[in-house]
Amino acid sequence: MQNYIMAIDQGTTSTRAILFDQQSNIIGIAQKELENYYPHPGWVEQNANDIWASTVGVMFEVLAKTGIKDTQIAAIGITNQRETTVVWDKESGQPIYFAIVWQSRQSDSYCEAFKAQGLEEMIKEKTGLLLDPYFSASKIRFILDHVAGAQERAERGELLFGTMDTWLLWKLSQGAKHMSDVSNASRTMLMNLKTLDYDEELLKLWNIPRCMLPEIHDTSEVYSYTSGLFDHPIPIAALVGDQQAALFGQTCFDAGNVKNTYGTGCFLLMNTKEKIIHSQHGLLTCVGWRIKGQTAYVLEGSVFVAGAAIQWLRDGLAIISSSSESESRAKQVNDCDGVYVVPSFTGLGAPYWKPQVKGGILGLTRGTKQEHIIRATIESLAYQTSDVVFAMQEDSGLAIKKMQVDGGASRNDFLLQFQSDILNTQVIRSTISETTALGAAYLAGLAVGVWKHQDDIRKQFQVASIFEPMMEEENRIAHLNGWKRAIHAIMEF
Ligand code: G3P
Repeated sequence: MQNYIMAIDQGTTSTRAILFDQQSNIIGIAQKELENYYPHPGWVEQNANDIWASTVGVMFEVLAKTGIKDTQIAAIGITNQRETTVVWDKESGQPIYFAIVWQSRQSDSYCEAFKAQGLEEMIKEKTGLLLDPYFSASKIRFILDHVAGAQERAERGELLFGTMDTWLLWKLSQGAKHMSDVSNASRTMLMNLKTLDYDEELLKLWNIPRCMLPEIHDTSEVYSYTSGLFDHPIPIAALVGDQQAALFGQTCFDAGNVKNTYGTGCFLLMNTKEKIIHSQHGLLTCVGWRIKGQTAYVLEGSVFVAGAAIQWLRDGLAIISSSSESESRAKQVNDCDGVYVVPSFTGLGAPYWKPQVKGGILGLTRGTKQEHIIRATIESLAYQTSDVVFAMQEDSGLAIKKMQVDGGASRNDFLLQFQSDILNTQVIRSTISETTALGAAYLAGLAVGVWKHQDDIRKQFQVASIFEPMMEEENRIAHLNGWKRAIHAIMEF
């Protein structure tokens, strides 16, 4: 019986293969860490061949670990770090440059030049994105400009571009399919949100030949079959950006449903269904997924430093020895004693978008203890999230009554209770923490009939804990006002 779905979660720090059964249970996980290269300050690159090798490695490892045969896998779903860009030679299959990671700032000057020409509004209107090197377009431009002869080769149709979904599909199908899905394509800055096709004006502006771009498809469909890896070809039936996959894995299928992933950063997404909402408050608009031609759009707020702030307590300040220790230490004091930590180590993302801002600790007194700083750091994850939530409510006109959460720091009960208090909103943690991989598995399973309808999937969502707001309104407002003062002080520093 082909009862299992394999999700490949190709993330920034590692590649994982996770096997799920039809009841959404995790049967096995294999993981391989990836190396990041930092050739210059602010540049982040990865070796796309290593990413491919790690993918093959974890696929075989998870099968070996669980004893499940390739013939028992109904489909593979791929979810991936978004925006990360690779360009390769169609004939040899060799990348012509390292993959430029989403965090990398090396193509910033192109964005600055377009900003100076007043093009930001037009680009935002068409793509829902802010003119920032975060997205793929300027990264492709960088590669075409910095590898000798690349522009001409691309124009002759000899080079292909892909984000990691496209790269892995091309490799898994032995070069047969060069495709992406709408969720990934919506982060390239080349796709028009309305037509869901590449935009001629943008292609011209970036001088990127259409022939190097992957075909844009639905998020859930059989794109191809594995070729040459297993005796039995397995359908590859979902490609989806990781944050959108988590939204799907959380079964946030209705308009106004919100999920927040507390990872290295925080990615908060709201499903707005068929509505394209252009943010007036520094949020991004992109595609969640398209299934059988039906598109769900999302509003997204990205916070650059969240879990990474807890790591800084451990590795930078060395005042905790493990991330999990932060919770018990924070509880040793009754409050932060007026201390606020603003962990904007790499600038402020949504809703402020101030790339130059540095972080800070405010409100120190002679009585400040390590525990106050630890507690204030955890609270900063909740405050940053609430800034994005408030912006989302303004943009969407929808009141957010509950928020579903996942990611490493969502294991921290203290954080989730404080989040609920400060937002005055229910915070819901699901039993499955691997919602990103689960989302990809669901999307692949839907395409091959493992699940017939989204409603069958919705029924499988299981709540692990619900956090209800308990803070008095006056106290809540006072906390939020303190945070506002801290953020504004940091922005002026
Ligand atoms: O947009 C970047 C995001 O997709 C990266 O996610 O989980 O690989 O850090 P992650």
